[in-house]
Amino acid sequence: MKLVVVSNRLARSKTTEPMTGGLAAALLPVVEHSGAIWVGSSGRVREGQQKEPFAEIEALGAGALALLDLPSAHYGGYYEGFANSALWPALHSRTDLIRVQQDDYLSYREVNAFMARALLRFRKPDTAFWVQDYHFLALGAELRQLGVTEPIGFFLHTPWPALAVVEGVPHHRELIEAMLAFDLIGFQTREDCDNFLAYVQSELGLAVKGGCVTSHHGRTRLAVFPIGIDADLFAQYAAKAASHPDVSRLRRSLHGEKLAIGVDRLDYSKGLINRISAFDRLWTMQPALARTVSLLQIATPSRGAIEAYGNLQNEVARLVSDVNGRHGEADWTPIRYLNKGYSQSVLAGLYRTAQIGVVTPLHDGMNLVAKEYVAAQNPADPGVLVLSKFAGAAKELDTALLVNPHDIDSMARAIGIAVSMPLVERRMRWEAMMKKLRAHTIQHWFAEFVEALEECRSERSALEAPVPEPLRWLRSAISGAGLTLRS
Ligand code: F6P
Repeated sequence: MKLVVVSNRLARSKTTEPMTGGLAAALLPVVEHSGAIWVGSSGRVREGQQKEPFAEIEALGAGALALLDLPSAHYGGYYEGFANSALWPALHSRTDLIRVQQDDYLSYREVNAFMARALLRFRKPDTAFWVQDYHFLALGAELRQLGVTEPIGFFLHTPWPALAVVEGVPHHRELIEAMLAFDLIGFQTREDCDNFLAYVQSELGLAVKGGCVTSHHGRTRLAVFPIGIDADLFAQYAAKAASHPDVSRLRRSLHGEKLAIGVDRLDYSKGLINRISAFDRLWTMQPALARTVSLLQIATPSRGAIEAYGNLQNEVARLVSDVNGRHGEADWTPIRYLNKGYSQSVLAGLYRTAQIGVVTPLHDGMNLVAKEYVAAQNPADPGVLVLSKFAGAAKELDTALLVNPHDIDSMARAIGIAVSMPLVERRMRWEAMMKKLRAHTIQHWFAEFVEALEECRSERSALEAPVPEPLRWLRSAISGAGLTLRS
């Protein structure tokens, strides 16, 4: 089978370059070895109608990267607009932050249609398409419109929220009906999958049986595939990075003081304000811990053209400065706050230097930083992970110190417990987590999804007897009106 992977953001093949976003970094090693073609945005836009979408092709391991220039007329409405000002806030249960301009949805659909046309050139008789994330919810339907009959899978890296939240998304019904053109839809957690099932049953009135939904597109299988990392590879990076200048300078600067580390995109879903407030509370409640533990917070700016992100950047900067002003000393800075990205290999060394990893999102699909922090630890003297129970990773990493990021006092107490946790307990908790990371790597995730997608090919050919056109139309009209067609 020839696999074509599609995502908005792509990664270049160097672990020594800074990378933004968990998806691109996680996919890189597996896509590189699989021989797949990975298609996504070049980060550039192109004016005018592109009859034949322009793609720059680069070699990537056994396969290739195809970098597309997206249409300039629709890029803003697609990326900053519908994808990141309607879908992203809703998927993270922040409907209060939904902001859409009149043509954003149209632009989103146009870019999905554009990507579908671009993908045709990579289609071979035994191709399967694997679409990543919320940027391309309608891509399966667009490919079907163009006559593609090969298997098309979709994996959602974010959470899928409760019904009432999804109803806050403009055009939600049309979009989710379009999603049912995928043969396979993968989610990070059982809860995400159940929320999606609840939507299609109660909002679209569709039948669900054995984890499959039947719609006018045919059958869509829904399943859970929690994304992992290559834990052993990450551990190797961490051990190697000890001598990297950035890492050794950090170590020397600590003078025996303990370090907590947070690494996030600057995003309101990551709980940065809550986390910094918890440190503020910790140093206020237990002044003896000032100078004993400090925080290194790496917050990489992203989506800066969106107002909510600009506001967050200002708010976090103000809070950091206020906390440093109140708790700092002439020779001690409580929070080191950096707005830049690091390569995977240096990050691994920074994680290993920190005795505490703080990963406290308000809502997160998986959060691979949590997994990377664990994998980077020194087995003889591992650090402690303080993890939000609202990150998908908490389902697996249940021997971390699980916290509710909305409860600042209890988060402060958990950080205090992490600071003084005895080695025996640290090792016990860490070994249990590491065992799970090794049992469910990114390679397992990739292989399990691709195998399930391959099964869809045989199911498709068995079910290929097409529904007669008038009945197709009738079914779509009926489900569009929110009714069910009883057979
Ligand atoms: O679903 C998560 C994700 O796709 C990650 O890759 C990344 O955290 C983010 O969303 C994408 O961010 P950006 O808009 O910066 O590409």
